[in-house]
Amino acid sequence: MFFRGRRLRSKTYLRDMVRETHLRAEDLIQPYFVVETEDKNFCKEISSMPGQYQLGIDALLKKIGEIYPLGLKAIILFGIPEKKDEVGSSAYNPDGVVQVAVKEVKNKFPELIVVTDVCLCEYTSHGHCGVVREGKVLNDQTLNLLSRTALSHVRAGADMVAPSDMMDGRIKMIRESLDQYGFYNIPIMSYAVKYASSFYGPFREAAESAPQFGDRKTYQMDPPNKREAIREAKADIEEGADIIMVKPALPYLDIITTLRQKFDHPLAAYQVSGEFAQIKAAAKMGWLDEKMVALESLISIKRAGADIILSYFTEEFLKNWQEI
Ligand code: PBG
Repeated sequence: MFFRGRRLRSKTYLRDMVRETHLRAEDLIQPYFVVETEDKNFCKEISSMPGQYQLGIDALLKKIGEIYPLGLKAIILFGIPEKKDEVGSSAYNPDGVVQVAVKEVKNKFPELIVVTDVCLCEYTSHGHCGVVREGKVLNDQTLNLLSRTALSHVRAGADMVAPSDMMDGRIKMIRESLDQYGFYNIPIMSYAVKYASSFYGPFREAAESAPQFGDRKTYQMDPPNKREAIREAKADIEEGADIIMVKPALPYLDIITTLRQKFDHPLAAYQVSGEFAQIKAAAKMGWLDEKMVALESLISIKRAGADIILSYFTEEFLKNWQEI
């Protein structure tokens, strides 16, 4: 006698019956880039992210209008402001691009979960995620600006905030300021374990947020480190994070699995712009089957232990790939 693994692989429905991991519309969050511009119908494709766009507010509403009926459950918004300055003031302007977008999206799609990315890099002239003095990104001086940003998003109607800056102590500060203003029911999805990754390249084109000098290595994590990921996640949970995130996803599946084993909190993973671009580029060359490779990547991220995936493939999944 030997193990006959093929028995349960012999028919489609048998394989379906014993499938251990599933991908559902509820698992996915689609990122959108909203631009502050006179032309509300502005719509420009991001060259390194085919099928993803910088959108004016009306173009965004139209896009959501197309995808929402297909089962879109949640989006995350990134803003591209008209003006940038040293301290990223447009990030916490109550009439800023994300704040206005949140209002309009929630008004039209009240059931849709609208998450906002909380960071300064799209709003600062130097492109760093915090306040810069003498070439250094200052931690504690940034915290107040981040909590003001988060609060302004929530006041505009955001359902959840997602701080992506990697300053120490920001979850505590944001939690305290949301609570202070009565928003104790608004969850925080923390980019708890965010690596200084080269896979963010296309995003920086999309969000116009590349650092103007240096890199993000003094605040984002060093890719070879795993034990540090546990410390970061633990700190954010203690400070009040409701959902913890690992970013990027596919090159960090081991980190996802480790956090899944160590913590009981819902776990998110961000399949980032570079992961998306790789698949798109190879598919365009005719070297890989886009649908099959994208679905295999997404299911791997879930199998590793993620409950939620932020993915630029969400739209495509809802439109054409839902049968898996
Ligand atoms: C902002 C932020 C970044 C991403 C999400 N939030 C870029 C960065 O840290 O440079 C990357 C997302 C992606 O690559 O898809 N700090």
